[in-house]
Amino acid sequence: MAGTEPEERTAPVSPASVELPQGGTVHAVVRWGTDVMHRPARPVTAYDEELRTLVADMFATMYAADGVGLAACQIGVDRAVFVYDCPDESGTLHRGIVCNPVVELPEGRARRLDDSDEGCLSYPGAFVECARPDWARVRGQGLDGEDVVYEGDGLLARCLQHETDHTQGTVFGDRLNDRARKKLRKQMEAAAEDYPRGWPVGAGSARRSASGPGGTAIDVDHVDL
Ligand code: NI
Repeated sequence: MAGTEPEERTAPVSPASVELPQGGTVHAVVRWGTDVMHRPARPVTAYDEELRTLVADMFATMYAADGVGLAACQIGVDRAVFVYDCPDESGTLHRGIVCNPVVELPEGRARRLDDSDEGCLSYPGAFVECARPDWARVRGQGLDGEDVVYEGDGLLARCLQHETDHTQGTVFGDRLNDRARKKLRKQMEAAAEDYPRGWPVGAGSARRSASGPGGTAIDVDHVDL
């Protein structure tokens, strides 16, 4: 997702956050309309070096694009895996890797919708309101095939849902009505100059340059997923 009013701050990091594979290569982000984004991804079955390289490349690309989440299909790879580095409602950052994600959402009275703006790195420069449950839990596997469970609220809840959608071939435009989709398209077209073919290769990150044990400088208002 992407934000319109960047706000710099230093946030604490959740102790559940995982060690990220380093040294990845930044790839061009694949856009909506490309086949790999609109069909369910193949499950991850091998937890090997190839997967580590893929995940390292996904993190590198997500940071270069100033995103808070990225799925493999967004760098053109047909595998059900996503990565994220995203704040929850309290501002605490959560970092993780989920293979073969399955999302659980609140039902009945516990189900409350949050209609905050949402954006996608594969449809860059555009944000519209998208109603989603304000809490989510995702189950799947980590980088070594171990079972993982992540849950949260705020932007993190939105991110976990948005990225799981990507692994199933759904983009958030599929969840919008015609009017909202039209608004989104206009914004994307107006911003097209800022996102040339190949972006974010060579773009560098304005936002994530100062990551360290104490926290990460991020802007949280509008982020691309
Ligand atoms: Ni997206």
